[in-house]
Amino acid sequence: MRDADQDDAVYDRFLFLMNAPALFNAVATSAELRIFRFLADHDEATFDQIQEFTDLPRHQLRVLLQAVCATGLLVRRDGRYANSATALELLASDDDDSWAHIIIGWKEVYYPAFGQMTKALRAGTNTALDAYPGDEPTLYQRLSRNPELEAVFHRAMSAFTLRSVDALVHRPEFADVRHLLDVGGGDGTTSIRLAARHPELKSTVFDIPSVSKLAGGKTTSLADRVDLLPGNMFTDEFPLGPDAVLFSHVLEIFSGDQILAMLRKAYDVLPAGGRVFLYGYNVSDDETSGIFSARLGLYFNVLASGQGMAYPASDYERWLGQAGFRDVTTVRDLPFEHGLSMGTK
Ligand SMILES: C[S@@+](CC[C@H](N)C(=O)[O-])C[C@H]1O[C@@H](n2cnc3c(N)ncnc32)[C@H](O)[C@@H]1O
Repeated sequence: MRDADQDDAVYDRFLFLMNAPALFNAVATSAELRIFRFLADHDEATFDQIQEFTDLPRHQLRVLLQAVCATGLLVRRDGRYANSATALELLASDDDDSWAHIIIGWKEVYYPAFGQMTKALRAGTNTALDAYPGDEPTLYQRLSRNPELEAVFHRAMSAFTLRSVDALVHRPEFADVRHLLDVGGGDGTTSIRLAARHPELKSTVFDIPSVSKLAGGKTTSLADRVDLLPGNMFTDEFPLGPDAVLFSHVLEIFSGDQILAMLRKAYDVLPAGGRVFLYGYNVSDDETSGIFSARLGLYFNVLASGQGMAYPASDYERWLGQAGFRDVTTVRDLPFEHGLSMGTK
């Protein structure tokens, strides 16, 4: 691309970005009001039908629909509204992997905190966590005091995981795993997928007690092969027995020192030949690209933990080597800026 074309693209993106927070919230509000779902059920609808369904004041609904039409997610033809193909695919269903869950989670938990970015980055810690009562150092722990919001948060996380998990689940390396320890395994979404795909695999999902409780409702269909271990991965021992340890979307929350400590802990409980898998977002090695990675790194530092980022794969490979793992390698360029780094004891 010529420089002038590049500048044009940056200029267009700049103008979009300046308006994006408002548009994001309009789309999230429409998801909360179930407008995409309503339109999917009816193919298309008049303004009056949407007004009756949402019960919003007419003027306010007019403003909302104009905003969502401006994003292209809704279309208006001859005075009737319909979902675009993208809205129909991503936002109209209540399925576990719906972007409707993701966008509501980001609206409720992530983005309110981002207004504190300057303050938090200056302070060098996650000052936005002050909005959540408690003295625990991370959002994950404090959310356990607010079960309703914790459920919204984990529904969003699980939906995003379902959208990005296939690249992990289909890896041939898991065919040899007999007992996986899924550290920070959340509500069990990843382990359930892995166990469904690999009939010989059994998994222990290790997470904080309130999250294990959320997982309890999900793992019943594979209860003989997915079990739950509540605990704190920093202060509790990892169990002996597993021949592989998975950290999926977990290590990036923490500092390099903490990551190294977790990898050493995994190394200590694995048998010789045991494997470790690190799955999650990787920024490019030159740390200049990756919009999902950028959002995540900021969220960690402003709100979730006050540290961490979507580290480049080269960082994970170095830490794996320092922890004693051999044959360290990364599968790069997986969907949604993901990478899978692996090592063997
Ligand atoms: C981003 S989520 C990832 C969930 C899941 N592995 C996935 O890929 O969808 C991070 C998980 O780490 C858990 N976690 C954070 N701190 C923890 C700790 N100290 N001990 C155990 N789990 C922790 C959180 O509760 C959360 O479920």
